[in-house]
Amino acid sequence: MKKGFDQVAVIGAGTMGHGLALLFALGGSAVRLVDVSRERLERAMGLIRSHLSGLNLQREYDVEMEMVLKRIAPEQALGDGISESDFIVEAIVEKAEAKQALFHELGRWAAAETIVASTTSYMNVFSLAPEALQQRLLIAHFYNPPYIIPLVEIVPGPRTDPAVLGRVKDHLERLQLTCITMKKYIPGFIINRLQRALGREIFHLIDSGVAEPGEIDRAAKASLAIRLPVMGVVARYDFAGLDATLNNIQGEPIHLASGDDRSPTLQRLVDAGHYGVKTGQGFFDWSGRDLEELLQERDLRLLQVRKLMKQWD
Ligand SMILES: NC(=O)c1ccc[n+]([C@@H]2O[C@H](COP(=O)([O-])OP(=O)(O)OC[C@H]3O[C@@H](n4cnc5c(N)ncnc54)[C@H](O)[C@@H]3O)[C@@H](O)[C@H]2O)c1
Repeated sequence: MKKGFDQVAVIGAGTMGHGLALLFALGGSAVRLVDVSRERLERAMGLIRSHLSGLNLQREYDVEMEMVLKRIAPEQALGDGISESDFIVEAIVEKAEAKQALFHELGRWAAAETIVASTTSYMNVFSLAPEALQQRLLIAHFYNPPYIIPLVEIVPGPRTDPAVLGRVKDHLERLQLTCITMKKYIPGFIINRLQRALGREIFHLIDSGVAEPGEIDRAAKASLAIRLPVMGVVARYDFAGLDATLNNIQGEPIHLASGDDRSPTLQRLVDAGHYGVKTGQGFFDWSGRDLEELLQERDLRLLQVRKLMKQWD
């Protein structure tokens, strides 16, 4: 049986898809990057070029930029070529009907031995896929930007072949990714659930006028940001003392934000078209900053933190 994936197809060239195409091309695979929108494909290729020059500045990858770019072929339709793929990663919009239609198309087009992964954040895609994919379908949930953030949460479906799981993990680990295999599916997996819980409180603090967004970020960077890389989220309790932790939890109630409450501030910003860095305005004002430059700066800083953490492995 073939080991690594020489031919990879990434379907969806948005925020995740373009980063995934870059990740696999950096790993040496030939990548088909497929999107229904020509505009999205053009934007994706521009962003990939810009990320690559950022990575080159950091000397993170010893690769020739043009060579990596040549490995990525943007395509506007699935086409015949998809049947040559060893590995297909679905990264299209998080909408059940769209994913279901794509899986049915893949069930018809993909070769019998092609492995299909979905990078869905919250969907049980196994119930959306046809019989033909069940044994070779899994969730591989990457983090943005996937060529820098190493985590991949892997979720097998009820009928995923363990050999398929093994091949995907082998390939991803060869790309220096950290694969965590979940025992079973749960929406949001591990990290998005933690992030969602944190987000509820962040929006609650802003909505109730307790602190300004900038102050909340300053507080997080001066505490959580330093503790997390050293102690994680669980060992931290051992350092704090489990007796003290229990005492805090059972002590005075602090009435955390509950459920999936709507945030009026978030709603107001979205209604006004303020989506964050991509529109120049979100919780903060990014106008006057070039988007590519902003993302490059983010990538450089993330790489610095990742390098530091690698020294502790
Ligand atoms: N954005 C993140 O940080 C992040 C992180 C991890 C996982 N995800 C998951 O990745 C997936 C994609 O999210 P995103 O943020 O990149 O979305 P996005 O909206 O940025 O991109 C989605 C892309 O899919 C394309 N598309 C839609 N239907 C298609 C089809 N049938 N065939 C080909 N292309 C199609 C759209 O044109 C668009 O370019 C979602 O399932 C999301 O939950 C996102």
